[in-house]
Amino acid sequence: MKHIPVLLKESIQSLNIKTNGIYIDATYGCGGHTKLILSKLGNYGRIYAVDCDIKTILKYKIIDNRIIYINKNFSKLKYVLNNKIGKIDGILFDLGISSFQLNNPQRGFSYMSNGPLDMRINQKKKKTAYTLLKNINEKKLSEILKKYGEERYHKKIAYNIKKYILQKKLNNTQDLSTLICSISKNNKFKHPAKRSFQAIRIFLNKEIKELKKSLKISLKLLKKGGILSIISFHSIEDRIIKHFMKKYSTSYKKNIHHKLPITEKEINNFYYKNNTINLKIIDRIFPSKKEIFNNPRSRSAILRIAEKI
Ligand SMILES: C[S@@+](CC[C@H](N)C(=O)[O-])C[C@H]1O[C@@H](n2cnc3c(N)ncnc32)[C@H](O)[C@@H]1O
Repeated sequence: MKHIPVLLKESIQSLNIKTNGIYIDATYGCGGHTKLILSKLGNYGRIYAVDCDIKTILKYKIIDNRIIYINKNFSKLKYVLNNKIGKIDGILFDLGISSFQLNNPQRGFSYMSNGPLDMRINQKKKKTAYTLLKNINEKKLSEILKKYGEERYHKKIAYNIKKYILQKKLNNTQDLSTLICSISKNNKFKHPAKRSFQAIRIFLNKEIKELKKSLKISLKLLKKGGILSIISFHSIEDRIIKHFMKKYSTSYKKNIHHKLPITEKEINNFYYKNNTINLKIIDRIFPSKKEIFNNPRSRSAILRIAEKI
């Protein structure tokens, strides 16, 4: 199945592309969003295309001298782009994994097909889902399934995963999926193994930690007036993004409140004196019914947009 970019028009529109601007696509994937950004950039515009999965970059690389590829974790952007601090016009995150990764059974992300228990987004990392499940204790595993998968049957699933993996009866994604389906209730809309696979993937790839780090780094990289647009696919990520944007926009509001009336110049002075980076929340956008119909993967997507002020 081909990867269809989610909230494509809305996310690129939100970036308000300047002809000669500098942009970061922090999750290049199959290049869907980058392609549209490129179509709006002039000869001097630049786009940093980031993906920690080298296979993805190699497969979907677009040859264009306005793109600079960065095969790194997006949480490392500050070190890579140190000379671009305060210079970026817009940053886009489209979190999670692409259909290219999900549909390849060898990557171990899919509960619908059989493959090794891998689940590494960055294949240079050593630890696979199999090593994780083998070495983790039952209590911690149960907590992970609850926290990152919101799985009701977390205790029973954790107990059985540990039992069968130690007996060498849990060796691939099909074994794991079958085991979970025998415990977790069937849901008309969601595969019973979806939540647990998601939880193991999030924990293994440290997705929450990486996201939190990257949000702070993004603020440093953006110039004033630069846009941060983030598409997330589950409530755990969305909550983090929402709180992050609120936190930085609330401190801004508080400070203009107690000193009212205040001019634009005073705000700017405050900003520089206190060296606080602030955001203005612009919007929150959901996919339309039509998009969900054409691309069911977009069903849980939320796009949050903020501007650095
Ligand atoms: C949902 S896909 C992006 C799809 C892309 N926007 C498109 O339309 O083609 C997410 C991509 O981000 C990459 N990714 C996930 N976590 C990452 C991280 N921490 N650092 C860098 N890339 C990451 C994945 O390898 C994947 O290719």
